[in-house]
Amino acid sequence: MKKILFVCLGNICRSPLAEGVMLHLKEKYKLDIEIDSAGTSSYHVGEAPDSRTILSAKKNGIDLSSLRARQFQTSDFDNFDKIFVMDKSNLQNVLHLSKNETQSKKVCLLLEQSKSYDILEVPDPYFGGEEGFDLVYRLIYDACENIRLQLSS
Ligand code: 4NP
Repeated sequence: MKKILFVCLGNICRSPLAEGVMLHLKEKYKLDIEIDSAGTSSYHVGEAPDSRTILSAKKNGIDLSSLRARQFQTSDFDNFDKIFVMDKSNLQNVLHLSKNETQSKKVCLLLEQSKSYDILEVPDPYFGGEEGFDLVYRLIYDACENIRLQLSS
């Protein structure tokens, strides 16, 4: 069983979407994995995902409404096998909390898993319009589908 954690800044836009997409793929392909998401900040702890994220996921048949934001904790390094972060700022923040190479080696940029896009960061959609959320969905879905392919092979 693989345990996968997705991390962004607020845990209300990008990482809960990645969690929902991966849960969707887990059900579809009967994957033996555990999935969670967290934010490096405490800004939105306890909140449901942003309404624009919920809408973007819903358009694609994914329900995020029961998810709640939590903050990344150092114990996550032990509790997860792989930690996928959305951008380089998240990467820096998470790596800063790591204590050794075993922990730091678990962390990578989510879009390193993407085959169709040659950008490395999932842009922060929080201060932009709704179209930004749909781009985020496409980027995240592509990367999660590639993670799924690796897990199935
Ligand atoms: P996320 O987006 O990191 O994808 O959840 C953000 C959510 C909230 C804020 C920034 C980014 N904020 O500054 O409150």
